[in-house]
Amino acid sequence: MAKAKTQYTCNECGSISTKWVGQCTDCGAWNTLTEVAMVKPSNSRWQGYAGAQDISLIPLPDITAQAAERLSTGLQELDQVLGGGMVEGSVILIGGDPGIGKSTLLLQALANLPDPAQALYVTGEESLQQVSLRAQRLGVGKVPLKLLAETQVESIIALASNQKPRVMVIDSVQTIFTQTLQSAPGSVSQVRESAAHLVRFAKQSGISLYLVGHVNKDGAIAGPRVLEHMVDTVLYFEGEKDSRFRMVRAIKNRFGAVNELGIFAMTDKGLRGVSNPSAIFLSRSRFLAPGTVVMVTWEGSRPLLIEIQALVDDSHGIPRRVTVGYDHNRLALLLAVLNRHGGIAMHQMDVFLNVVGGVKITETGADLAILVAVLSSYRNNTIDNSTAFFGEIGLSGELRPVPGGQERILEAAKHGFKRAIVPKANEPRQKIEEFEVIAVNSLQEALKHI
Ligand code: TYD
Ligand code: MG
Repeated sequence: MAKAKTQYTCNECGSISTKWVGQCTDCGAWNTLTEVAMVKPSNSRWQGYAGAQDISLIPLPDITAQAAERLSTGLQELDQVLGGGMVEGSVILIGGDPGIGKSTLLLQALANLPDPAQALYVTGEESLQQVSLRAQRLGVGKVPLKLLAETQVESIIALASNQKPRVMVIDSVQTIFTQTLQSAPGSVSQVRESAAHLVRFAKQSGISLYLVGHVNKDGAIAGPRVLEHMVDTVLYFEGEKDSRFRMVRAIKNRFGAVNELGIFAMTDKGLRGVSNPSAIFLSRSRFLAPGTVVMVTWEGSRPLLIEIQALVDDSHGIPRRVTVGYDHNRLALLLAVLNRHGGIAMHQMDVFLNVVGGVKITETGADLAILVAVLSSYRNNTIDNSTAFFGEIGLSGELRPVPGGQERILEAAKHGFKRAIVPKANEPRQKIEEFEVIAVNSLQEALKHI
């Protein structure tokens, strides 16, 4: 076979070069040249716009589309994140730090399929023996799953078109390469090009394809980020490595809700779905301490009780705002609102904030709980531990409603809370037994009740 021709294009300006250089000679940008396969121009002569007559247009109502068929993965939490199981012909990217449990999760999902013989697990990182050892540990060593240790994308596709699996896993895209490019596996161009081959193949053959991608330390380069636009669903594995709990979050989903969260616990027999996550995030340390507050957050389509801890201390120098699991800019904004509309200044204070359990909070419904936690630490007062909080704080100090108000309140009641301080517009129409809902309009009003 003749060696395929490649060239280098600049990601910034698109200029083409025959060899790699550090700086683009046209636009002057640094490190933007990536290798691409040279496409041979077609020989046919330009025939004018006449050819367009052959293309027919279809009115929308004439298209018959059936609701996509879904295949359960046998792991309820994963099915929920995917929007009710995996869709045939869909491509799912699973990103996460090395060692967080991606291979474990997918091996479990494949082994739990109704017919595991229809699944193909392609390993580029580990040997077949290593995969087998893991399978034994997970108690699925005897499942007739098909395995393949291969890294060349052309061979994988050739084999998969023969075998016709229903589900295929590529672990991981960083190890896969295509022979049309000369750059090393794991480079941006290899990852992008190999994944593009696989995605095209999945769409043509109707295979559900999982791509595993490591997120590397320095961020997006060659990581799963460069693939996000190509795939149907992007899942990210979150969670602290030293904690038992792992969260799988849908960042993008063409077949379901985004920001859906699946919660797993890593055990000695693999990942186990956590059916009542609120209970585990709270049970840890429900002792009364200043700066500790429980909030009801909204994750995808369900409420979740989470503990927030704040520590306010005298600052020596520039006041610091340090957050774990929360956006520190949002904290700065909330502190400004607290100053202007609550009359409490934190100019000479360091403020540290921690979301307990390795959870990342991205919604504004946490605003009220965060300011209450900060105030509680500042005043060194404990907050009654049977009260839960949620609500968004506006720049003029008003408390705004958040989605899922009713469900959040019910979740708090279900877990034994006696009271909730919530935005006025989230007040439920019916009274809840043995539960008091304090609905307020503004931050000032909320502070009066604490
Ligand atoms: P792994 O799935 O290999 O991570 P990734 O593919 O994301 O790199 O597994 C990660 C960790 O999980 C590993 O450190 C060992 C641990 N583990 C368990 O605790 N229990 C188990 O049953 C298995 C299979 C792994
Ligand atoms: Mg792995």
